[in-house]
Amino acid sequence: MNVQSDLDSRQVTVTVNGKQESLEVEGRTTLADMLRQEFHTQGVRVGCEHGVCGSCTILFDGEPMRACLLLAVQADGHEIKTIESMADGNKLHEIQEAFSEKHGLQCGFCTAGIILSVSELLERCPEPTDEQIYEILGGHLCRCTGYQQILQSVRLAADMLLEK
Ligand code: FES
Ligand code: FES
Repeated sequence: MNVQSDLDSRQVTVTVNGKQESLEVEGRTTLADMLRQEFHTQGVRVGCEHGVCGSCTILFDGEPMRACLLLAVQADGHEIKTIESMADGNKLHEIQEAFSEKHGLQCGFCTAGIILSVSELLERCPEPTDEQIYEILGGHLCRCTGYQQILQSVRLAADMLLEK
């Protein structure tokens, strides 16, 4: 028996953006790599790979988490949502519309992770204070925007969702 290869490869069953799939992954594969390579969710951006920048943030059973810090095998039996789950066909989600309207992004590298964290915030706290928004943004590095437009985008998104 090849003990090493048994340890190296595992069968996982995971639900990604509503679709359940079973697949074999190497024990060392990160969740970010599995999502990008096996599920083609290229919106999972890999920046620092050390849990610092937040660009790889996904929703793991509804909680924002860094996909670069998780192993793919840890997703077994869990539900993952990526930015690809937000729009409904060609219709953008309200948070995406708000970011577009208020110029909450420039290069966009950080944006998917921020939008997913913001979606969790607005779900649990529909009328957040600026402090609560900044607390979320503190987990995401953005080199382009200076954060003011992001703050305005989140405020607009909150208003849009409340009016929905
Ligand atoms: S790539 Fe995961 S936190 Fe930076
Ligand atoms: S928009 Fe470029 S890093 Fe945030």
